[in-house]
Amino acid sequence: MADEAGQQGGGKLWGGRFSAPTDALVEAYTASIAFDRRLYREDIAGSIAHARMLAKQGIIEDADRDAIVDGLRAIETEIEAGSFEFRDDREDIHLNIEAALAERIGEPARRLHTARSRNDQVATDLRMFVRAACDEAAARLRALRGALIDLAEREVETVVPGYTHLQRAQPVLLAHHLLAYEEMFARDAERLRQARGRANVLPLGSGALAGVGYPIDRDFVARELGFEAVSANSLDAVSDRDFVVDFHAAAALAMTHLSRLSEEIVLWASAEFGLVSLDDAFSTGSSIMPQKRNPDVAELARGKSARVIGNLVQALTLLKGQPLAYNRDLQEDKEPLFDTVDTLLDSLAVVAAMLPSLRFDAERGRAAAVANFALATDLADQLVRSGVPFREAHEVIGALVARCEQEGRTFDDLTPEEFAEAHPVFAEQPPALGLEAALAARSATGGTAPDAVARQREAARSRLAAEESE
Ligand code: ARG
Repeated sequence: MADEAGQQGGGKLWGGRFSAPTDALVEAYTASIAFDRRLYREDIAGSIAHARMLAKQGIIEDADRDAIVDGLRAIETEIEAGSFEFRDDREDIHLNIEAALAERIGEPARRLHTARSRNDQVATDLRMFVRAACDEAAARLRALRGALIDLAEREVETVVPGYTHLQRAQPVLLAHHLLAYEEMFARDAERLRQARGRANVLPLGSGALAGVGYPIDRDFVARELGFEAVSANSLDAVSDRDFVVDFHAAAALAMTHLSRLSEEIVLWASAEFGLVSLDDAFSTGSSIMPQKRNPDVAELARGKSARVIGNLVQALTLLKGQPLAYNRDLQEDKEPLFDTVDTLLDSLAVVAAMLPSLRFDAERGRAAAVANFALATDLADQLVRSGVPFREAHEVIGALVARCEQEGRTFDDLTPEEFAEAHPVFAEQPPALGLEAALAARSATGGTAPDAVARQREAARSRLAAEESE
């Protein structure tokens, strides 16, 4: 018996060959409406484009198309107003909308699924969703990069120790350090652009797996929905989720970069480093230790990167055992994808908002930058400029460091005679112990000299402006 939505066999749209209703446990287990309702906009847009194509090709009547389009628009309005009833017994977003359309307009709704399957439908919806997610993530990345560049400009004179092995190594400009992250996030934006390009291929028209037996116009549907191309192989098109993996991979790397930046903020905000203090608005207190100011935002951005990385692994694992073509396993692609989109967007936004609130201790940064013999390389370079082979210079300065350490002194405590004793060049020239000179010397492209960093910053700014105007 058909019910009011034209459904048979337990009220399912696919129930024609079934005589008994679905077990309640199975219904609950297989339903995806709780999460895939998030695809309603894409689903409706896809159905409208499909109906227009069917009418254009003479597969359905223009009057049916008009009823379908008006009905779908009304359903979209209802969903947006929060008055649409999503039903578990209607399984997923596709069947919920189709059944509601049938209730609303009757017979024409039952023609909409001609030359289509939920397999090419869901792949189309998800590609549109990923495309939009790439755009939104790229916009948030641009805001974050803008914040980094602005901070690099505000802190144009701030010096910090540069580290390797987390040991103080050579002084660097804070701006140089911040712009290193801008480079990473610029690459992330590029990866998202590429992911978007690969997602932007239309699967609709592939049917369940083998293509469809109607004179459809796939290029028309692609144009209607803003796809750049139509898929070349129906078996691939209904089962391919590479574009999901691409998005996860780009997101995981962006979150990894965000996690590294967050780790720096956590370290710098500690009493041990003391390079930065956090604003009240971007830190939290302890419920027991009244003196605490904790970098929770940075810690959570670091922690949430774990989820996003986990979601990438989930997507790969989901795909690896599936034979062609569509398998219901693929329904499991959605929740981790939605989680990654939300986590990435929120994390990018909160860190971008926090950056301008950071207050750097420039005095402490300067002192730390030259402590622990951080100018040793510059002393060796000075000898090299006077003709001493680099390896010899390295040895001479290394011995000087060892001596100072033994005697509990620094380079600044050594007398001119002691320097001259270490190497005769120092008898003729005062030792190069100036922080400014150490920075200024590194003026080749990519270096930490103020002029080189200013060039990096302006290049980053124009790259960002170019992307913004694309
Ligand atoms: N909810 C399903 C999914 O997300 C839609 C496609 C179902 N297709 C099917 N033949 N059961 O993958």
